[in-house]
Amino acid sequence: MIEFDRAGVRVPVASGDLQILAPTSLSLTEQRVALIGPNGAGKSTLARLVNGLATPSSGQVRVDGLDVATRGREVRRRVGFTFTDPAAQLVMPTAAEDVALSLRRTHRHRAERRAAALDVLADFGLEELADRSVQTLSGGQRQLLALAGVLATAPSVLVADEPTTLLDLANARMIGDLLLGLPQQLVLVTHDLDLAARCDRAVLVTDGRVAADGPAAEVVAHYRATAGTARPAGDRG
Ligand SMILES: Nc1ncnc2c1ncn2[C@@H]1O[C@H](COP(=O)(O)OP(=O)(O)O)[C@@H](O)[C@H]1O
Ligand SMILES: [Mg+2]
Repeated sequence: MIEFDRAGVRVPVASGDLQILAPTSLSLTEQRVALIGPNGAGKSTLARLVNGLATPSSGQVRVDGLDVATRGREVRRRVGFTFTDPAAQLVMPTAAEDVALSLRRTHRHRAERRAAALDVLADFGLEELADRSVQTLSGGQRQLLALAGVLATAPSVLVADEPTTLLDLANARMIGDLLLGLPQQLVLVTHDLDLAARCDRAVLVTDGRVAADGPAAEVVAHYRATAGTARPAGDRG
């Protein structure tokens, strides 16, 4: 369970402090939660609070009762995070080495780690690419590999920040279907409203606050009906 307890984020800017997320209280228990809304609304900020990539300047965020601010290490073992651009997390030269890196805590011996990495790659249909340079993989393959690396650590929650934004239609469908089929709790930031509508719950973020929250299909329909009527992103008066 993910709990936001009046969690707000302020960041210092030249003109003083900017509140990029108003104090927000949410209790996320659903299996698949979509975070939707315009560019600059605060979706990534909200998502990043879940694993401590962002820190609340007021209030608290808890995962399974653990305060993210003080129990970050334990929280990050439970919460996997994937970035829009898989290049942000694929740091090793080959696919197998990259997944093996994720397994360094659970598999101390090099050969064991390699074998486990190959198993993970096989689960994701990437076994043929094990020794390929990450640089030579397609966008879809890279996103799949990034997911494989994160899921290899068996998190109980996956936070995915716009995982399909850079992908073509076929790869976006493949990754989207995979994400919605995961056994993990999923927090999915996305502009793919069809994908968002297939989640259990959607939270619409606009202007640094929750503007709507409820069954995904309803919130997506509300967003489709109202998008474009709010002030542009970044215009906070
Ligand atoms: N560290 C920061 N310093 C200043 N402004 C920031 C910082 N992080 C985010 N912002 C601003 O906060 C707003 C929300 O950002 P973000 O959460 O990335 O939005 P989204 O993911 O919905 O596009 C944006 O206007 C962004 O420019
Ligand atoms: Mg974002």
